[in-house]
Amino acid sequence: MLISLPGPNFTAWSKVVKSILSHSPVISVIDQLHEGVNWPSEESQQILNNIMVYCDTFPLSAIYYRKLMKACSEDIETLGGDIEDCLMERVVEACSCPPPAADAHDVCHFSYVVPFPLHVPVAAWPQPAEEQVQVAAIPLRVLRDHNLVGMKTWEAGLCLTEMCLASPPELFTGKCIVELGAGIGSTACILSQGLARAVPQSIILTDFNELVLENADHNIKINESSHEHVAGRIHTTVCDWRDVNTVEDVPVSMRHADLILAADCTYSEDIIDHLLRTMTCLVAASKARVSSVSPSVFQNGKILESDTKSADREDTEPKKVDEDGSLLVELGRQFGPIIILTCTERSVETWQYLNRALKSSTFQLRCRDITQWARKLCKGGILQFENRDRVHTFCLYSAN
Ligand SMILES: C[S@@+](CC[C@H](N)C(=O)[O-])C[C@H]1O[C@@H](n2cnc3c(N)ncnc32)[C@H](O)[C@@H]1O
Repeated sequence: MLISLPGPNFTAWSKVVKSILSHSPVISVIDQLHEGVNWPSEESQQILNNIMVYCDTFPLSAIYYRKLMKACSEDIETLGGDIEDCLMERVVEACSCPPPAADAHDVCHFSYVVPFPLHVPVAAWPQPAEEQVQVAAIPLRVLRDHNLVGMKTWEAGLCLTEMCLASPPELFTGKCIVELGAGIGSTACILSQGLARAVPQSIILTDFNELVLENADHNIKINESSHEHVAGRIHTTVCDWRDVNTVEDVPVSMRHADLILAADCTYSEDIIDHLLRTMTCLVAASKARVSSVSPSVFQNGKILESDTKSADREDTEPKKVDEDGSLLVELGRQFGPIIILTCTERSVETWQYLNRALKSSTFQLRCRDITQWARKLCKGGILQFENRDRVHTFCLYSAN
């Protein structure tokens, strides 16, 4: 869905819109209103109301909306301005509703903003100021303050999406993309909006939780109008990593992967081995399309322990690290299905466990740490989220 912002102070307004739609702290939204949008002029209150019209269709969290409206009205009064009717109605409505019970599931939308028209390369955004600049907002339904991890947005997911948005279209064009642990489907929804230049053959979102997949389906649907170029190409399917121990266990619809994505799927030691084993099987199943699976990797469909006892399998080639995103295209060309894994560094123990697993020969995957490259590629940040420095990016591919 498109939101129009005034061209002359587009940069300041785009910060405001990104912050509100991603539920940034209200205090920082107020600070941003004080910077370059002529707040609280009548015009600026009307623009804020236009943003809120988008939120009528894709509601923010009720608690957040209430706080935001209250803070805006108090700020206008403090600055000695008059609250315009359009905002006054919202303030009255938001504050007259009883606050939701503390334990209520707060179903709401986080939305992320990308350039429009779609052919504008992300690196060239924002465009030179015109009278009005349109941005595309991608709504994602989430359950706030809920303990189901697949019903929220995660920084590593947004980092992965940013990196994909900044990558060249060849990485996706005609490719079968499989995402493991896809959660709310943010990567596919945002990527599809930003990928007008590249039409993948298919995007398969997988997760083990049916409720999570239903929500991902919902998010694909509410974004359908902006995804016409990928219509019918995005699907969801159940895949529980604990059930994938052999190539035959890989669901048939996933066996043609060219590009495998996974974000924030390494948050506990219990799941890391299952995830990496699934990746090994998925890469092998996809590679088997073009060549027979190496018998040194699988016997009776089971992954064999490698006889290479090398403690450190971290790969150092190809050496070429470029800034235009073609590193991943190059790795894909050389090594067949590649996996892009983004991970958030949390507890020391889990982080050490993950690093050992990534370097171990057990999973028959080579691992290249591309964190610095990815951070450089996404410098400036396209999406709104915190803690970028805690997210690491790895590229994995078959060791055989
Ligand atoms: C922290 S969330 C990340 C979601 C999404 N990738 C993102 O970045 O927004 C982890 C995801 O992994 C899924 N997951 C956890 N264990 C799984 C398993 N055994 N098999 C498949 N998916 C699993 C969860 O349901 C959840 O969607």
